[in-house]
Amino acid sequence: MARAARERSEQERERHRCAATGSHSSAIALTTVPSDPSMPAEPRVLLTAEQIDAIVARLAAEMSARYPDGVVLIGVLRGSVPFLADLARAMTAPVSVDFMAITPYTPGSGRVRLLKDLDLDIVGRDAVIVEDIVDTGLSTAFLRSELQRRRPRSVAVCTLLDRRIRRVVPVEIDFAGAEVSDAFVIGFGLDHEGRYRNLRLVAAANMELLADDPDAYVPVFYGSSTKAPPG
Ligand code: IMP
Ligand code: MG
Repeated sequence: MARAARERSEQERERHRCAATGSHSSAIALTTVPSDPSMPAEPRVLLTAEQIDAIVARLAAEMSARYPDGVVLIGVLRGSVPFLADLARAMTAPVSVDFMAITPYTPGSGRVRLLKDLDLDIVGRDAVIVEDIVDTGLSTAFLRSELQRRRPRSVAVCTLLDRRIRRVVPVEIDFAGAEVSDAFVIGFGLDHEGRYRNLRLVAAANMELLADDPDAYVPVFYGSSTKAPPG
């Protein structure tokens, strides 16, 4: 494996070794997905397509009721794209869509930086940050404070997955899909080295296996050993 790829995998493993603390004050009832601490080699499906559809329908209904006059959905590139696309289409209130991109959080740095800013002006508007997963909370906390400075009417957070066990900074989550525990997850926008984003499911992955071969799950999920293009 190329050195850069190995270093990225090691960073990812390190992220998952890091002890995390934090609190979570959301009153929303979550679907709790248990995770096996001794991960088998095979990926384990945590959410099926049907379960994802049910989560999307519930969150879209909640958000349509909360913002009857419309809302700006702000997707965090790139993991939120499938979730945001489904969410926007399931909503019955008017929706605008925009995107932001930030540098990934790396252990030791403890901070994130804006790579792509909004095109829309959100002054006086209701905005919802749409995330694939809130893990340490560093990205979401950064984005929320960044958006708050632009004087919107409100800023809320919607995430498909909430891994609150690893929270480093407290983040209030307004619309939460499912809670997951410590295992690294792939699918429905979530990637490992650019792979697996287009799966219609969310699965817990064995990181040791993927660190050695990022394509290890390609035969399982795509039915061939063709190398998936990264990115
Ligand atoms: P944070 O630690 O809450 O700042 O999470 C930052 C980002 O890391 C998330 O938005 C995801 O894109 C990515 N991430 C965190 N955990 C996972 C995972 O288990 N699988 C894939 N991506 C993840
Ligand atoms: Mg993300």
